[in-house]
Amino acid sequence: MAVKTVLRMGEPCLLLKAEPVKQFDTTDLHALIQDMEDTMQHLDGAGIAAPQIGVSLRVIIFGQKETDQRQNPRYPDADFVPYTVLINPVLTPVNAEMEDDWEGCLSVPGMRGIVPRYVRLHYTGFDQYGNKIDRLVNGFHARVVQHECDHLDGILYPMRIKDLRDFGYSDVFFPNQDIQND
Ligand code: NI
Repeated sequence: MAVKTVLRMGEPCLLLKAEPVKQFDTTDLHALIQDMEDTMQHLDGAGIAAPQIGVSLRVIIFGQKETDQRQNPRYPDADFVPYTVLINPVLTPVNAEMEDDWEGCLSVPGMRGIVPRYVRLHYTGFDQYGNKIDRLVNGFHARVVQHECDHLDGILYPMRIKDLRDFGYSDVFFPNQDIQND
C-alpha cells in the first residue's frame, strides 16, 4: 500500500482518545494495517499505532516477522517480539513491579527518554480477522505494548518521564550508536 507520514508531537490527533474498531476483516481495516506495516518497516519502528498516521482507531502493530531475522537497528539489544496486530487492546499489569528503560517514538524523532513501565503484563484484544489474542508477556515485549497502547489514549512517552533530565537527543545520549533514523 503506502508509507504514510508519521504525525509528530504537537499534532492534536496524537492527543485524542481513539475509537474502538467495530467491524473486523473489512477492506478498510486491512488497508489501514498494510499502511501501518509499510510505515513501521520503512522507519524501523518497534511498533506503530493508527493515530500516528492520522487514523483515530484502537489499532496497533508491533514486533518483527520471523522471516526478518535482522536486529532492529533502533533497538539493537531488544528481545525478539513476534509480529502482532492488536485491536481494541485491554492491558492488565500482573503486579505492581515497574522498571525504567529507554524509549523512543516515531512521533518524537531524534529523542530518547527513560520511562517506567510495568514489567509483567497480561493483554487481550483481537487481530484484524476478529480472532482473540490473549498473552502474558514481560520485559521489552510488555514495554512496547504499553507504549503503543498509550498512543490510543493520547499519551506520548515524554508525558511519563519522571525526571526530564532523562529526556534528550538520541545522538547526545548515545553518540556511538547509529540511530539517526527515528
Ligand atoms: Ni510511539
